[in-house]
Amino acid sequence: MRPDGCVPWPIAIDGPAASGKSSLGMALAERFGFLFLDTGLMYRAVTLAALEAGVPPEDEAAGAFARALDIRAEAGAETRILVDGKDVTGRLREPEVEHHVSAYSALPSVRAAMVAAQRAIAARGPAILAGRDIGTVVLPDAPVKLFLEASPEARAARRSLQARQWGLAQEAAEARRDIEQRDRLDSSRAASPLRPAEDAVVIDTTDLSLEDVIRYALELLGCN
Ligand code: DC
Repeated sequence: MRPDGCVPWPIAIDGPAASGKSSLGMALAERFGFLFLDTGLMYRAVTLAALEAGVPPEDEAAGAFARALDIRAEAGAETRILVDGKDVTGRLREPEVEHHVSAYSALPSVRAAMVAAQRAIAARGPAILAGRDIGTVVLPDAPVKLFLEASPEARAARRSLQARQWGLAQEAAEARRDIEQRDRLDSSRAASPLRPAEDAVVIDTTDLSLEDVIRYALELLGCN
């Protein structure tokens, strides 16, 4: 941290699936004592609840369903998500959720509800938000915007490793199919498609370790 402790905030971190947004966000949040919010988990929570309630994403009721849900994100060193008071964080990486989350998050009404909740959390104090549209839509005035990229191979290998830590077995080939499918849907949707903000610093992390990415981000922030 700078000697005067004036790290600019909020910090927006965007990028495609498994590009390392959360790992970087959590590391920076820990270092600066900031809140970290992984906004992908909020879209995953809507997806889990809608699937359990039998509300498909094609159904016009999906938007109203999402608005009526009591989703609370507890942003701390890591993000925990409560739906109707119940902590569902441990279920948000399940394959069912993974396969359907892009369809639910393409709905403008779902996005409107999530963006409002995310802005309210960011307004609480120094925060780092990670997602797809943080720099473009949620926090367009953020003084620091990072956009992480990495090849599909590198992201699939990382996701397969992470899946093991989450207790889910997923081969790299299967992870790659999932990732490419979500990349396609998340970048081609009409509402807030995945893309870097014009003033974002794009970092290709394909050949970088997490430590390298953290060091680079700290340099950009003037904290080294
Ligand atoms: O970051 P993640 O892979 O956990 O995100 C899951 C999905 O949620 C992603 O495929 C698209 C959606 N998402 C979004 O549309 N906007 C965000 N800010 C974060 C995630």
